[in-house]
Amino acid sequence: MPQLRVMPMPADANIHGDVFGGWIMSQVDIAGAIPAARRSNGRVATIAVNSFLFKHPVFVGDLLSFYADVVKVGRTSITIYVEVYAERNRLEADTVKVTEATLTYVATDENRKPRVIPPLSEL
Ligand SMILES: CC(C)(COP(=O)(O)OP(=O)(O)OC[C@H]1O[C@@H](n2cnc3c(N)ncnc32)[C@H](O)[C@@H]1OP(=O)(O)O)[C@@H](O)C(=O)NCCC(=O)NCCS
Repeated sequence: MPQLRVMPMPADANIHGDVFGGWIMSQVDIAGAIPAARRSNGRVATIAVNSFLFKHPVFVGDLLSFYADVVKVGRTSITIYVEVYAERNRLEADTVKVTEATLTYVATDENRKPRVIPPLSEL
């Protein structure tokens, strides 16, 4: 199941009319934070964007699906792999993988300091 499904609007376009990469990055960050917060059982902050590949352009009106999975759990950090698929012509089921990224989130406490991630058995 995708963590997010969203359709970029004209306000999300760059000067060439395609979707602005920074908008895609923000959606990827949101999508990745969902499993990170769930696994850490609390708030998280993004500490690093380890890799980011814009393989194909995204167009206004594409229906984007953001899939995000935990790839590594450390003491206080969680690394997430995010893939983004664009449905371009929905009636023709034309789906393209447009972006992939790996991000690291740190579990934080109420003072915004790193917090130890609980074992799965405690969730
Ligand atoms: C997140 C934050 C609280 C972490 O505090 P810190 O003192 O820098 O963190 P630490 O050095 O103790 O490292 C915490 C974890 O991050 C990991 N980490 C640190 N730098 C990293 C990097 N460049 N890439 C990947 N992981 C990294 C550490 O390995 C550690 O993980 P582990 O405990 O699983 O081994 C702090 O860096 C911060 O507030 N950053 C700003 C966050 C932010 O505003 N993000 C954007 C909006 S959400």
